[in-house]
Amino acid sequence: MLKAKNILIGISGSIAAYKIPILVRLLRKAGANVQIIMSESATDFVTPLTLSTVSNRPVSIKAFDKNTGEWDSHVELGRWADLFIMAPLSANTMAKMVAGIADNHLLTTYLSARSDVMFAPAMDLDMYKHPSTSRNIEQLKSWGHILIEPTEGELASGLCGMGRMEEPEIIFDRIEQYFDQQSKLKGKKILISAGPTYEAIDPVRFIGNHSSGKMGYALAEELANKGAEVYLVSGPVALQAANNIAKVVNVTSAEEMFDACNSIFDQMDIAIMSAAVADFASANIAEQKIKKGGSVPSIELKPTKDILFSLGENKTDKQLLIGFALETNNEIENAISKLERKNLDLIVLNSMQDKGAGFGHSTNQITLIDKQKHPQSFELKSKTEVAKDIIDKIESLI
Ligand code: CTP
Repeated sequence: MLKAKNILIGISGSIAAYKIPILVRLLRKAGANVQIIMSESATDFVTPLTLSTVSNRPVSIKAFDKNTGEWDSHVELGRWADLFIMAPLSANTMAKMVAGIADNHLLTTYLSARSDVMFAPAMDLDMYKHPSTSRNIEQLKSWGHILIEPTEGELASGLCGMGRMEEPEIIFDRIEQYFDQQSKLKGKKILISAGPTYEAIDPVRFIGNHSSGKMGYALAEELANKGAEVYLVSGPVALQAANNIAKVVNVTSAEEMFDACNSIFDQMDIAIMSAAVADFASANIAEQKIKKGGSVPSIELKPTKDILFSLGENKTDKQLLIGFALETNNEIENAISKLERKNLDLIVLNSMQDKGAGFGHSTNQITLIDKQKHPQSFELKSKTEVAKDIIDKIESLI
């Protein structure tokens, strides 16, 4: 999500500046480009050398460097940024932002920035409580700037209360959320099937499989985090669905899963069928528990309805349909034939040959094949990471 995003961090004079190198490290690790711009007083709290080392770029402090004769354009910096974060934001710099004062490089850059602005105030308790600070925060918010509220705790002055800048990890999460919300998946209605199905033989026994539902639940959670409206149709699993999932429908059998998926598919933008649906169910479910003692019973099976196939038949040009394939041999050919037969836009292939992939594991190794039929293989990763790879691919198909 943060890969190749240009993030400009404006640091003003506050002790909380010492936390910014940690934020820079987190952003860089996530693949973002980070440019630091500091007010002169900020350099008393954290060294430009530290910041240029962690950001891997020269730190910008003055528009013009008398020693080198180099000119640092505030306009270019302001246009470069995908997001401008003022952190920590001192009461003084905040007041100048509100007043439109441009008496240093940080403030001229702020005034010429075109990106959205986030701000993380940091100051002492009484400064934070002062009506001018409250008024300034409200003013910045009214311009659409995103407030990262300070927290309560011990302050550098020794006082205890509101005014501590939020921790770098939380600021990082807020930045991720910001870019997530720009996702093409925001507001999309997505149906996900997950887990196994149980096909009853008698009132106490069933035919099932080892699917844990982890892959489908990871997809549901990641998609919901990206602002999608997720409808999760789940077979029996021991998992808790994330609370930002719009609706969870619990089912047991393939028949119930078929009905639940088909009844809402026409309202969906995307459907991802990750459930391990039983291919066969008992033709005659015994009304009473089958007793031992007599002859050994045989169970007559009947095929279940293929949910994915049925969705593929009803799919419109506006909808995307994604299926899974678990194969033991001729994996790519089998997956491509499944993609075509079931009218899919994308198939996620798991090979039983790969260790740590498939049922029950917390990891998975996948190959993605779209209609262009070029297999794209990924290494073994956690199911959450795999979910992110699948979602990146889906976003590229929208
Ligand atoms: N699927 C489904 N309904 C079924 C069976 C399968 O929706 N009754 C979906 C699964 O959720 C998965 C895909 O179809 O997305 C692949 O299922 P799989 O059982 O591997 O493939 P099949 O097409 O059933 O073929 P085979 O069992 O012969 O490999």
